Parts: sequence; structure tokens; C-alpha cells
Amino acid sequence: MRKYIVAGNWKMNGKQEQTQILASEVVNMYKDEVNNGVTAVMIPPFIGIGEVQRLAKGSPLKVGAQNCHQEESGAYTGEISAAILASFGLDYVIIGHSERREYFDEQNALLAQKVDQVHRHHMTPIYCVGETLEEREENRHFEVIEQQISEGLFHLSTDNIQRTVIAYEPVWAIGTGKTASAGQAQEIHAFIRDLLTKRYSEAMAQEISILYGGSVKPNNAAELFSMPDIDGGLIGGASLQSRDFIDICKAVK
Ligand code: PGA
Repeated sequence: MRKYIVAGNWKMNGKQEQTQILASEVVNMYKDEVNNGVTAVMIPPFIGIGEVQRLAKGSPLKVGAQNCHQEESGAYTGEISAAILASFGLDYVIIGHSERREYFDEQNALLAQKVDQVHRHHMTPIYCVGETLEEREENRHFEVIEQQISEGLFHLSTDNIQRTVIAYEPVWAIGTGKTASAGQAQEIHAFIRDLLTKRYSEAMAQEISILYGGSVKPNNAAELFSMPDIDGGLIGGASLQSRDFIDICKAVK
């Protein structure tokens, strides 16, 4: 059975006090209110990880990182390796968020190496894909997503693909307040699952969690999560409000 996951990507937000307040509220509200078995993940900036882990200790909440370097270790000032993240006990690492692709020029081949590093250290990558508005308007969205999936993931062994989470995040829906309709999102999720079926097997494709991201809010989460191939969400803006994040966790079927 595939897992239902709601992951909060805090991006470059979370000064010290906000980190403490947000994480402790999320932990307490999750304990009191969430009982649908959803896996909830908090993904703060690197420096906040230790504090969030301390506050989440003993709770079912998981903690992740937003990126890692593709090399094992070495002279890469300012970077963090998967080895370091794993040694601190992290569970998830986002790889290939569209902001990394766009502002840091991260390409599929590099992202494939990062995915490998995350697996090598026994964590779960959340590998992000998604088309820009221009690509959708040119009707190239299927092609773009197929390329991102095949170049980023299809070198993986059957063991490792099963330990990978995919997030579909149309770039035009991120932070814009524009959500893909549940039907538009389902169409792409089914397409991704079909690609996985062709490359691996139907049984394996059914085991892989595919999250939707892009302006998910408490008022649209339930409809998106009711779709057969949407297994939760990657939440940006709304993950910075504990009430909203918890309500989104509760919207999982
Ligand atoms: P958003 O961001 O929810 O603010 O649109 C989603 C994401 O970038 O992961």
C-alpha cells in the first residue's frame, strides 16, 4: 500500500523564533487532531533542522531537508551532503524543486546524481517535476514531465524506485494562488504512474507515492487528495501556518 504524505516545504523562511513556534504548534496540533495515518513532514531550512527535530522527537512527524549536494564530501564551501543529513537522522530530502531548477540551473542529470546520494544514505528523495506555463501553453507538458522523470529516475534499481517519492508541481501553480484543477493534476499523476508501469511494473508503480504541489490550501486539498493517483501534497506557503498545514493533513482521505 502506498503512503499518503503531506510535506511542508518552508523554503527560505523560518527565523529562530518562528521555527520554534511553528514546529511546536504543528507537533501539538498533529497529536490532538490528526488520526488518518498520513505521514507529515516538516522541511525547514538547514539551520532549523536540529531545532525542529528536537521539537518533533517522540511524535510521528518526520523531518526533511530542501536540497543536498551531489558529492559525498569535500571542498564545497557552503554545501551540505546527503551523508551529513543522514548522520543527523533525516528522513526525506527534496530534490529538483522547480526553484532549484530555475534559479540554480539544476538539470536532470545532476538531479539524478543527487537522488542517488539520498538513496545511498538510506533517506527518501522527494523528486519534483513540473512544467512551466509556457510549456503547458505549447502543449509540451507531457513531454517535459516524461523527460524529467526518465532522466532523473529511470536509472534507479527496482529497490530504489520504491524508496522514492515523486512530486508533481506545475511551475505556474507554485506560490501564485493558481492551483491545477483536480482533473488536470490527476491527468498528470496518472501519466507519471503509467510511465512507471512501463519502465518497472504495474505493481511497483502502484506502490509509489505521487504528491501534488502548487498552491495547495485547506480549501482545495480534499478535492485534490480525493483523486485516485494523488497521494498527498508538497505544501509551500500554507505550511508556514500551523492551522493550515494541519487542516491539509486532515484532508487526506
Ligand atoms: P506553494 O509552494 O504551496 O506555496 O505554491 C509549493 C512548493 O513550491 O512546494
